Amino acid sequence: MRIAFLGKGGAGKTTTSSGFIQYLAKRFPFVVAVDADLNAHLQSALNLKGETKQLGLHFDEVTDYLKGSRTDVGDRPMIGTTPPGVGSNFITAKANDPFIEKYALKDGNIALLTVGTYQQEDVGGSCYHEKLKSLAGIFHHMLDTQSDLVVADTTAGTDNVATSLSFAYDINVFVLEPTEKSTQVFLDFEEIAPQFADRTYVVGNKVDGEEDAEYIKERVGADKYLGSIPFSRNLKRFEQGEEEAILDFQKEQEATFDNILALWTEKASKRDWATYLERLRKAFSWDCERWYSDYYKADLLSGMDKSFTYEQALKDKGLTVKETALV
Ligand SMILES: Nc1ncnc2c1ncn2[C@@H]1O[C@H](COP(=O)(O)OP(=O)(O)O)[C@@H](O)[C@H]1O
Ligand SMILES: [Mg+2]
Repeated sequence: MRIAFLGKGGAGKTTTSSGFIQYLAKRFPFVVAVDADLNAHLQSALNLKGETKQLGLHFDEVTDYLKGSRTDVGDRPMIGTTPPGVGSNFITAKANDPFIEKYALKDGNIALLTVGTYQQEDVGGSCYHEKLKSLAGIFHHMLDTQSDLVVADTTAGTDNVATSLSFAYDINVFVLEPTEKSTQVFLDFEEIAPQFADRTYVVGNKVDGEEDAEYIKERVGADKYLGSIPFSRNLKRFEQGEEEAILDFQKEQEATFDNILALWTEKASKRDWATYLERLRKAFSWDCERWYSDYYKADLLSGMDKSFTYEQALKDKGLTVKETALV
C-alpha cells in the first residue's frame, strides 16, 4: 500500500506525513517512509538518527540493482519508466529486504528512503524530475502487499502529475489550508488528472473551527474530505522545545488519521496491477519517443520483454496483494 501527501508549500505536508508515519509505526510492525521532496525535511520531522543516502544521486546504481539478471534490456541503459521484465530484481517493503537494508535509513521500525536535494553541480542545469527517476524506478519495481505501509512526503504543487509517479500511489492525500490558494492546488490537480480522481482525497490542516472545515468542503466536495487537523497551539509548544506537547498534537491528528487508514486499506486491497503496468508501458514509450531514444542514440523500446506481469512476479515471490489484511 502506498500513500502520498501532496499540497502547496507550507500547507503541512511534512508535518502531516511524518505524523501519519508515526501513527502507523505505533500500530504496525514496519513502515517505509519516502522523502520525495526537494526540500528534504522528513528525517528531522521523524527524528531519525543516522545518515540518509540520496537516491537521486545514485540512479545508475539503483537501475543496476533493479535490472538484476534480465537479458532483454541488453546493454542499453534503463530509465525511470523502464517496465520490469523477467529477471528483474524487485523490492519488497519489508525490513529485511536487501534494497531497503542497503539504501534506507532505518531507525526503530521506520525505514526512510530519501530522493535528496540539489548538489552544487546541479545549479542552473538540473531539474528535480532527473532526481525523481530513481524513485520512479523503485516504485515500479516494488512488490508491496496490503500489509506493507509506504508513505511519501512529496514536492509542492501538482508536479507529480508530470511524471510516472502520478500513478505510483494507491491514494493521494492533499493537505489543504482553509484558503483559496491552498485549495486551488487540489482543484488544479483534479482538472489536469481526472483519471486519478477516485484515489485522491483531502485533509484540512490548520483548521480553526467548523467554518474553516466547511470552506474547504465547499471548495473540494464534502465526499473528498477525510477530516480536519486544527491549527495547533500544541505543535507550536513542541517547536518551542516542549517535547511532550507533541503527544497532545498527535491526539489532535488521530481521528483524521483513523479515517485515512480506513480508506487506504479499502482502496489498496483493490490495486489493479494490470492497469498499473499498462500506464507504465505507455509512460515508457512516451519517454523513449520524446526524449531518451534520441538522447542515448539507442532504440530503448525494441526487444523489451512483453510477457512480464506483476501478478506473476508476486507469485514467484510467494506474495499476493491481498494475503494479509490490516487489523
Ligand atoms: N496543524 C498545524 N498547526 C499549526 N502549525 C502547523 C500545522 N501544520 C503545520 N504547521 C506549521 O506550518 C509550517 C509548514 O509546515 P510543513 O509541514 O513544513 O509544510 P510543507 O511540508 O507542506 O511545506 C511549519 O512551521 C509547521 O510547524
Ligand atoms: Mg515539506
